[in-house]
Amino acid sequence: MISAEMKSRFDREVAKYPSEQKQSAVMACLAIVQQELGFVSTDSEKVIAEHLSMAPMAVHEVTTFYNMYNKRPVGKFKLNVCTNLPCQLRDGQRALHHLESKLGIHMGETTADGLFTLQQSECLGACADSPVMLVNDRAMCSFMTNDRLDQLVDELRASGGQA
Ligand code: FES
Repeated sequence: MISAEMKSRFDREVAKYPSEQKQSAVMACLAIVQQELGFVSTDSEKVIAEHLSMAPMAVHEVTTFYNMYNKRPVGKFKLNVCTNLPCQLRDGQRALHHLESKLGIHMGETTADGLFTLQQSECLGACADSPVMLVNDRAMCSFMTNDRLDQLVDELRASGGQA
């Protein structure tokens, strides 16, 4: 549900652009929705589209192009492991499988306690540091051996979801 407060935040983003280019605020509006609701639903896309005088499909194309927008609810910690070819050649898939085993879930799933969501990611621009992963779209983790993956998961879990 998009609140009036969220729409006024949309308006503040729209005001940064010339009136005939308000569609330029689409990524900022999507970020606001995700920050407030945790994910961007089809209904939210429609509200943004209407607000920015865009076709809903044009908003959907942005949402689905970028990895950082969640299309459904995710856990407190979103773990995105790069499995593009250069990383495949340097243990990216192994890292993903190790996390699946450690967390007891498959790629794309969320743990029952709601703490972790495990996803594949496209190239993160750090191929030489493989295996690499992103935590919550911000924290880059490099050279993720099984030991380092275990340590990361244990630390995030010990934080009680506060990190
Ligand atoms: S392919 Fe994984 S970071 Fe580039």
